[in-house]
Amino acid sequence: MLVAEIFQRARALGVAIPAFNIPYLPMLEAVVQAVVAQDSFALVEVARPEWIKFEAGGPAAVAAEFARWRSPDHVRLHLDHIPVIDEDGQRVDYLPIFQEALDLGYESVMVDGSRLPLEENIRATRQVVDLAHARNTPVEAELGAVLGHEAGEPPPYEVLFASGRGFTAVDEARRFVQETQCDWLSVAIGNIHGAIAVGRKDQKKVQARLNLEHLDRLAQATQIPLVLHGGSGIQQAYVLDAMRHGIVKINVGTEIRQPYEVAMKASGSVAQAQQAVYERTAWVLRDFLGIHGLRARLAAPASL
Ligand code: 13P
Repeated sequence: MLVAEIFQRARALGVAIPAFNIPYLPMLEAVVQAVVAQDSFALVEVARPEWIKFEAGGPAAVAAEFARWRSPDHVRLHLDHIPVIDEDGQRVDYLPIFQEALDLGYESVMVDGSRLPLEENIRATRQVVDLAHARNTPVEAELGAVLGHEAGEPPPYEVLFASGRGFTAVDEARRFVQETQCDWLSVAIGNIHGAIAVGRKDQKKVQARLNLEHLDRLAQATQIPLVLHGGSGIQQAYVLDAMRHGIVKINVGTEIRQPYEVAMKASGSVAQAQQAVYERTAWVLRDFLGIHGLRARLAAPASL
């Protein structure tokens, strides 16, 4: 089954598919084993910051590691955040990265033009859509400001949430989806990324909330699967509600990265760090999202 079809099924079931980030290659085996043990389904994903600021190596290294633990009924490979302008304000030569990932067999990709003005975001996203759709590959895009990856301290969370500053605008989202033909849209509705900057990446994440009325308006306006970035640390009740209101993919990074780093620091043992990732991933699937056994539900024709 193609990833696009899996997403359609998840949407019909009212569940979200988690996408686990891989900043350190040994995390990949642990994530896959946890997904298989829970008989669930997830994406494994790598974002550009994870090979620039961490130790993922690059799209080829992650694809090679993924091939070692291949289990297509349970996991697929996604290319996360390829920014047009990165978290440090630098322009990125993004098209060759997509070309490389598509050649490597990534089954879905994300272009992040969210730091650009609307027109330029539309243009850049459309370029990637043209490239990826020619290979039958779905494209995720981003509109609005999911803050947190930048080096500076973000504004106080409650101020952001109350003001709705940076939230994805409903009219822009409608137009953006029509003009870009993107398949999935990452939205800003109170979610925030875990910090990745040196000196801040070990901080405990704020327990974010979500504006579910705003999510409803975005789902209505766009009619495509919506994506929740910054999935770590959001209060559970909001995440479970969001799944019933249009969120079909939820990105989880900090939640499994920090246990890996803590265990590595304490023990120096990759095996112990992998065990920490395995346990946290299983917890996300079973206890937080409640999607153990999801593989069978996605496969069953009756679930459509
Ligand atoms: P967290 O690290 O906050 O879970 O965010 C991950 C993410 O959205 C990657 O794209």
